[in-house]
Amino acid sequence: MNTAGAAPLPKRRVAILISGRGSNMMSLVGAAQHDGYPAEIVAVISNRPEAAGLAWARAQGVPTFAINHKNYASRSAFEAELQAVLDKVGAELVALAGFMRLLTEDFTRHWARRMINIHPSLLPAFKGLSTHERVLAAGVRITGCTVHFVVAEMDGGPIIGQAAVPVRADDSPDTLAARVLAAEHRLYPQALAAVASGNVTATDNGIQVRQMHPVSSETEETLMICPPAQQS
Ligand code: GRF
Repeated sequence: MNTAGAAPLPKRRVAILISGRGSNMMSLVGAAQHDGYPAEIVAVISNRPEAAGLAWARAQGVPTFAINHKNYASRSAFEAELQAVLDKVGAELVALAGFMRLLTEDFTRHWARRMINIHPSLLPAFKGLSTHERVLAAGVRITGCTVHFVVAEMDGGPIIGQAAVPVRADDSPDTLAARVLAAEHRLYPQALAAVASGNVTATDNGIQVRQMHPVSSETEETLMICPPAQQS
């Protein structure tokens, strides 16, 4: 009898794309430092060489790459270099974490079902920039964050998980952003784990869930990694 148990599944090789401070990237790198986590971070790549997150990742021993988009004549020329780096590090999945470049349809098609993003709203509401300002202007009482598969349409794509965050009467865009960001840091590692382990996969018109994840509730936040009913 094999008392050692089943061999752990190989970890999926994940590249993280950032443009700035990189706090979501830090939450993914931190999660991936745990033995049982189903992904390893093989590269952190920024389109801005000065991104603070790059120095942090380098100090953690994660291979880092700066690909300055300003040095490329077109989006596709920039993406060709990005793809070369992803090939070099053997990335199997890509996680966008505050990556502020729009990606071409060719690139998103190439990485279809293998690229995910985090957005600081409950999609499909409030796609795009200045999310928290628009949330406050709209007067909604609940906002949050979403991790989704990336498709050509910005902030579109099948939803993997969401966390709800209440809007307070005295919130400013900054206080709301800080509370949503804390939820992002809890949500993203769990959503990446769901994808890397194969528990959540993208289909032609949604996602498929192999195994339900526990849903954790906290006083002010509900974290839902995948929908309660299977979609396909
Ligand atoms: C996060 O709010 C993320 O949802 C959005 O941009 C912000 C990036 O923050 N796409 P950080 O660089 O991860 O700290």
